[in-house]
Amino acid sequence: MRDFKLKKIRRTYKLSELSKNSVDEDPFSQFNKWFKEVIDAKITDPSAMVLSSVDHERKPSSRIILLKEVDDRGFVFFTNYLSRKSDDFAENPAASILFFWKELERQVRIEGTVEKTKRKVSEDYFRTRPRDSQIGTWVSKQSTVIDNRKFLDYKYNELEKKFGDDEIPLPEYWGGYRLIPNYFEFWQGREKRLHDRICYKLERHGWNIFRLAP
Ligand SMILES: Cc1cc2nc3c(=O)[nH]c(=O)nc-3n(C[C@H](O)[C@H](O)[C@H](O)COP(=O)(O)O)c2cc1C
Repeated sequence: MRDFKLKKIRRTYKLSELSKNSVDEDPFSQFNKWFKEVIDAKITDPSAMVLSSVDHERKPSSRIILLKEVDDRGFVFFTNYLSRKSDDFAENPAASILFFWKELERQVRIEGTVEKTKRKVSEDYFRTRPRDSQIGTWVSKQSTVIDNRKFLDYKYNELEKKFGDDEIPLPEYWGGYRLIPNYFEFWQGREKRLHDRICYKLERHGWNIFRLAP
């Protein structure tokens, strides 16, 4: 095994701080506040998040997905309804999303349940995608085994010819999910590894805010 000196990789976090008094009482507003700061900081892939699902054998898996919308109900992303994650959601709608904005020394963990968005939401988003991505959606049966790369290029060219100048329809097997949260954790790196962790848990009366030990 190569020696990457992994044990020496560390840094001190000291950019900012977070407290129960400084956060918004609504976790969505707090998320939007941090997200605006991420956008303003012009970091790469600001909307990339780790989405975790759990299958019918209670085996977890994670992958990066792009967040496409936040509304007052939840966090919307788009994917293939025949993919592994979608199989997991059909068995178990519990899921989490996680953002790591390293430039701001921040992590956000969000947990909840997913549900499919209305078809219209998927239609509207699909229409905004570049034409090659739309065709790509028809080409790839996401997460199925394929023989080689050539297969994808061949199928792409076939479909491009078939659609011609027509509008590309939204495939039945593609669309959005909304993660409806019941838990948020905002993590701000601090010195001496005494990080700030401010959490929100949805209770009957509303959001309960508390601090966790780092
Ligand atoms: C930066 C980045 C963005 C991605 N965005 C998406 C996305 O928005 N939707 C999607 O289905 N897959 C996206 N992927 C691919 C997924 O990580 C994953 O490979 C794919 O969804 C299949 O996952 P599954 O087999 O676990 O269902 C993205 C990957 C990366 C690295």
